[in-house]
Amino acid sequence: MDRRRRALHGRTYLARARERRADGRIQLAITTDGHQPLGEILLFPTQTPGEAELAYAIGARHRRQRLTARAVQLITDYAYYTLHMQRILLRIAEANTASVALARAAGFHLTDAAPTTREGARDELLTWQHRRVGTDQ
Ligand SMILES: CC(C)(COP(=O)(O)OP(=O)(O)OC[C@H]1O[C@@H](n2cnc3c(N)ncnc32)[C@H](O)[C@@H]1OP(=O)(O)O)[C@@H](O)C(=O)NCCC(=O)NCCS
Repeated sequence: MDRRRRALHGRTYLARARERRADGRIQLAITTDGHQPLGEILLFPTQTPGEAELAYAIGARHRRQRLTARAVQLITDYAYYTLHMQRILLRIAEANTASVALARAAGFHLTDAAPTTREGARDELLTWQHRRVGTDQ
């Protein structure tokens, strides 16, 4: 993709992210200096009250620095203690070993929910969950 197309693609992506705020979706850049985006983290409500879904990605050059793990911890705390959520979900392809390892390290557990598909995802996704301390498993 050339520079102009990349810039257009980026602007469209940001505009869509802003629009989706109206649905209660939080989409934040992961940065170390407050300016340069290195990755992103998203939190959006599901159809179930008290439940939100999390998604994340970090640029290839910035991986294995615990940046996503820290972002997950922050946004999970925000979901529980500011938004009063009870349960956070992650949907991860079984073959995505990095994301599965991160989910486990962050205290998520694999559920027995049926595999699901998602627009734009090649593989079926399994559901992982994290519950607010003090709520039933
Ligand atoms: C999955 C992803 C977000 C991980 O981000 P990251 O910033 O590299 O992860 P962290 O550095 O915070 O890792 C935290 C812990 O997760 C585990 N982990 C993360 N990546 C791992 C890998 N490639 N292999 C094994 N364990 C891994 C480790 O336990 C790690 O802790 P440690 O480094 O102290 O051992 C990143 O690989 C990515 O963006 N992948 C492409 C997009 C994607 O798959 N998103 C998720 C869709 S469900």
